[in-house]
Amino acid sequence: MPQLNKTVVMVGMMGAGKTAVGTAVARLLKVPFVDSDDEIVKAASRSIAEIFERDGEPFFRDREFEVIGRLLRGTPCVLSTGGGAFLSERNRAQIRASGISVWLRADLELLWQRVRHKTTRPLLRTANPHETLRTLYEARLPAYEMADLAVDASPDYSIEQMAVRVVEA
Ligand code: S3P
Repeated sequence: MPQLNKTVVMVGMMGAGKTAVGTAVARLLKVPFVDSDDEIVKAASRSIAEIFERDGEPFFRDREFEVIGRLLRGTPCVLSTGGGAFLSERNRAQIRASGISVWLRADLELLWQRVRHKTTRPLLRTANPHETLRTLYEARLPAYEMADLAVDASPDYSIEQMAVRVVEA
C-alpha cells in the first residue's frame, strides 16, 4: 500500500456515513481517523448542541475552520468533517491545498431515515426537521459537487465497499 501523503477529508450531509466510511478508510490505509466535531467538543468541553446554543453557529464555524486547519497541517489521516464544513470557501481552500475531499453522496430520504430519530443535531431542531433537511440538502449540493471525489452512499453498498472505492481512487 503506497504511503498516504495527503489527508483524506470526508464531506457530505449529516447522516451520509462519513464517520463509518471514514473509519473503514483509515483502517484500510493504516492511518488515524479523526472527526472534526469530536475535536471541537474536546477543546470546548461542551457538546455541539451546547456550543450552538451558548456561543452561536458563527463561533462553531470558526472553531471548525481552526480544527480542520490544524489537522491538515499534521500527519496525513482520514478526517471526517461536519456536514456544513465544506460550504465555506475558506474551508474548501484549505482542504484543496493539503487534502483530498471525498463527498459521500446519499439521497435525501436515506439521510432523513438516518437522522430523524437523533435529536442531537442543532440545525434540525426546528418545527419541520424533514423540510429543514431538504432545504439544507438542496442548498449544499453545489458545494459538495466541488469535492475531488464523489462516492455513492446507497444502502446497496456496504461500508467496506464504499471504503475500498475511496482507497482505490
Ligand atoms: C452540521 C453537521 C454536524 C455538526 C453540526 C453542524 C451541519 O455534523 O457539525 O451539527 O451543518 O450539517 P455531522 O454532519 O457529522 O452530523
